Amino acid sequence: MARILITSAIPYINGIKHLGNLVGSQLPADLYARYMRGRGHEVMFICATDEHGTPAELAAAKAGKPVEVYCTEMHEIQKDIAAGFRLSFDHFGRSSSARNHKLTQHFAGRLADNGFIEEVSERQVFSVADNRFLPDRYIEGTCPNCGYDKARGDQCENCTKQLDPTDLINPRSAISGSTDLEVRETKHLYLRQRALKDEIEAWIDSKTDWPVLTTSIAKKWLHDGDGLQDRGITRDLHWGVPVRKGDAPWPGMESKVFYVWFDAPIEYIACTAEWADANGKTDADWERWWRTDKGADDVRYVQFMGKDNVPFHTLSFPATIMGSREPWKLVDYIKSFNYLNYDGGQFSTSQGRGVFMDQALSILPADYWRWWLLSHAPENSDSEFTWENFQASVNKDLADVLGNLISRVTKFCRAKFGETVPEGGTLGEREQALIAELQERLAAYEACMEAMEIRKAATELRAIWVAGNEYLQSAAPWTVVKTEPERAQAMIRLSLNLIRLYAVISRPFIPDAAASTMASLNCDDWTWPGDVAAALSVLPAGHAFTTPEVLFRKITDEERVDWQTRFAGVRT
Ligand code: MF3
Ligand code: ZN
Repeated sequence: MARILITSAIPYINGIKHLGNLVGSQLPADLYARYMRGRGHEVMFICATDEHGTPAELAAAKAGKPVEVYCTEMHEIQKDIAAGFRLSFDHFGRSSSARNHKLTQHFAGRLADNGFIEEVSERQVFSVADNRFLPDRYIEGTCPNCGYDKARGDQCENCTKQLDPTDLINPRSAISGSTDLEVRETKHLYLRQRALKDEIEAWIDSKTDWPVLTTSIAKKWLHDGDGLQDRGITRDLHWGVPVRKGDAPWPGMESKVFYVWFDAPIEYIACTAEWADANGKTDADWERWWRTDKGADDVRYVQFMGKDNVPFHTLSFPATIMGSREPWKLVDYIKSFNYLNYDGGQFSTSQGRGVFMDQALSILPADYWRWWLLSHAPENSDSEFTWENFQASVNKDLADVLGNLISRVTKFCRAKFGETVPEGGTLGEREQALIAELQERLAAYEACMEAMEIRKAATELRAIWVAGNEYLQSAAPWTVVKTEPERAQAMIRLSLNLIRLYAVISRPFIPDAAASTMASLNCDDWTWPGDVAAALSVLPAGHAFTTPEVLFRKITDEERVDWQTRFAGVRT
């Protein structure tokens, strides 16, 4: 049994996330966590809300609420929606937690002690019209790297370059649009990433198994142009982690907070401490996931994120960890994603374009979305959500293939033999061939899941469902029963067991359908199948079941057209 630590990039607190955000980190992380638990491993699956920074402040102001209140409310909302999608976090924490305040200040103190913090008198953009310093994200302008004209002060969305606001050409306030900007002096802390460059690079070079998408982005920011830059890690804001040097005040930094991108990844660790606090555990219980001097050296740590997050996770956060010179666990594998587009354009939070998580759940249960999103995850390139494709996948894969198999087998059994597993007959050649095929396909499915090849895993799983359907079609127990009822009983016994096996192995993708199928089968044995033949005899003859309700319904053309129109415009 291995120990696997899994973190999903933590979603910003402001607003409900769209399906593109979901498929870019939280959902695939959940798939992996569920799979690893299913295989019997010990898993710690962590996510949280990313609560600091100006977007939170501004969203709270817009909602007319104190920012603390706004964040508490939005955290609950995001938590409920995550539960609705069956995201199986061991803990869904908050980057504004006391644990994160303390840990962030601790890291800053360690970095300072080790000489990796520099105090810099900086010229910062002040908006006269808005009467405030403008945080990076609230300055827009033209990217000096690629020329994109809506680049933000912290990063260019178009070319992913991390920026400083003063790098922007033709800057303007994103709050008011005002170009009446002044540059004023203010003191800030810088993380001396450059001093850690060789160490970071050697570490990245040692990760020969990382996906190309991850390594290429990391390498790009290590080498391109001026390479890895020292980063400002403080801001002139009220909302955030107050700047302190560990437990001590930091002279001259009294009214400042840490930059949200400094404290957010530290929340992965702090959140695990929050998990311990929430579950009556000790510090040792969370430290064994994070401190290599306290048992974490046998932990495998996997992170999930969208590609825009890769620079922060391959360079900045590792710099924080390494520079602390403390034995914290570094990530072992980073699974990153491209973007999901929406019906011929982009999902957009600011423009309210696309389907948002709450809306999705209001029209169909989680499994429908999980299946489509995961089987179309933007792994090797961007992918696109279209209602046609969604309808086709749901109707074919879930309703026609999986749902239909389960319904045919159970209904046929009820009609001919009653609602118990029939006992007659023995397995023939056809069944042996199916078992051999499943054994092979199962191995392929497992290999994809281990490798986090999500689309391929979905393809393999679908092929396993199809194999069952083809078997049933060619075995034709409904014909056989007329002449050799015992043979038909053996076929149905096998098929009922096959349904159980499907529930077990499909659970990471479609947990609700798996659970309801298992409940119908009156069984709670979720043991992962090793030997397929053995797994297909778990339900013994005479075992009672109830015929399930329709597992997956089809999406009609009218619904498709209706939803297409409903979600074409702007979310209000
Ligand atoms: N909130 C960020 C985003 O949605 C992700 C933060 S990930 C962390 O893009 F590492 F900083 F936690
Ligand atoms: Zn750019």
